[in-house]
Amino acid sequence: MNKAPIKGFSKLSKEAKIEWLISNYAEQPEASLEVLKSYLHADEKVQKLHDEFIENTISNFYMPFGVAPNFLINDKMYALPLAIEESSVVAAAAKAANFWMDRGGFKAKVISTTKVGHVHFIWNGNNKTDLKAVFDACKPDFFANTQNITANMRSRGGGILDIELVDKTALEPGYFQLQATFETCHSMGANFINSCLEAFAATWRQAIENNSTLEPADRSVQIIMSILSNYTPECLVRAEVSCKVDEINEGSGIENAEFAEKFVRAIRIAEIEPYRAVTHNKGIMNGVDSVVIATGNDFRAIEACAHAFAGRSGQYASLTHATVENGIFRFWIDIPLALGTVGGITKLHPIVKFAHEILAHPSAEELMQIIAVAGLAQNFSAVRSLITSGIQKGHMKMHLLNILNQLEATEEEKAIIVNYFKDHVVSHSEAVRVFTELRGIPSKVGGK
Ligand code: MEV
Repeated sequence: MNKAPIKGFSKLSKEAKIEWLISNYAEQPEASLEVLKSYLHADEKVQKLHDEFIENTISNFYMPFGVAPNFLINDKMYALPLAIEESSVVAAAAKAANFWMDRGGFKAKVISTTKVGHVHFIWNGNNKTDLKAVFDACKPDFFANTQNITANMRSRGGGILDIELVDKTALEPGYFQLQATFETCHSMGANFINSCLEAFAATWRQAIENNSTLEPADRSVQIIMSILSNYTPECLVRAEVSCKVDEINEGSGIENAEFAEKFVRAIRIAEIEPYRAVTHNKGIMNGVDSVVIATGNDFRAIEACAHAFAGRSGQYASLTHATVENGIFRFWIDIPLALGTVGGITKLHPIVKFAHEILAHPSAEELMQIIAVAGLAQNFSAVRSLITSGIQKGHMKMHLLNILNQLEATEEEKAIIVNYFKDHVVSHSEAVRVFTELRGIPSKVGGK
């Protein structure tokens, strides 16, 4: 049976929301109530911040906050903050950091920082030259009518870079755009860009409706929407590592030259085979998203953009590339990252604030470099495992504690079982077998 709908839920107090939810949806009301309560922050001021981040907050959703030290980036040492639930990600980051610290570290540079947004509109007039003339005459007004919105950004060296009229009628009858480019300095700039675009739309409507040079029938425009684009291929950063093939010496017993050759081939496969490219890039995003989330940035925007960029040739492909030339192994990533170090929750969320603090309050450009490195490092560790020991060895070792926690093993049992698996291959069923043997009871938890 469907549950009865509720009206005015957002107006209820937090307690009333919880009570309604628990009594309608919880399987074990008392236990669920306890869980929700136990995840509330002890400091009321912090909890209020969380309550006000979104609507209908009833508790908090915790994720582990980890750190991967020893990241040498452009000769500066960083400890990277990572918010992630996946067992092996922080360990993989830390391992890659140590590996490359001994080989000169990571080099990173910002290639461009331009953001973009559009007023999407329909104009069904006949003479496109007339429309272009209206646009050219109106262009200074777009800047003039947004002076208030752009004042702060301009004082920081940013603002509106350019506005163009784009004819999209080949794709859809009557469809045109005002395409604007922006420099948003240390902020991700979504609110700034959207405010400018909405002002452009109002200016544009007036310009067309009041224009006496257009035929009367053409003096009408339908504004469909004004919105930034999260596709920012011109907000691009490159991170790379390189060393002599002779110095790779990565410790798994495989010869240096063979390691380098296999590595380059693995990257090549991700460049040409979308099935592999998606998993490959997912691994990159393990590193990217962890730091994006820890620093209070919008991981949905970052994800959407990275994958669109990965498919920009028409085929989805790897974000990283590798070569061996003249005895030098080189591995790099090009990734668009529209990030902010001011605005959003960057100065509100206590852990996000701390993440910025341990990164020594980076600029948006510095953060772009750090996060590109996090993605490259993660990819290096994943591919290194894949072409040597295989991924499961390290992954399952890290996952072992999750399995034991699911089995409700005691600390003492965990210590014994972790010790046992130091020289045995971990699998879910093996972990269950060893656990049940240790306890001498049949397990309730099935294998996966
Ligand atoms: C797992 O989260 C990520 C990997 O699958 C990435 C890859 O295959 O490169 C290990």
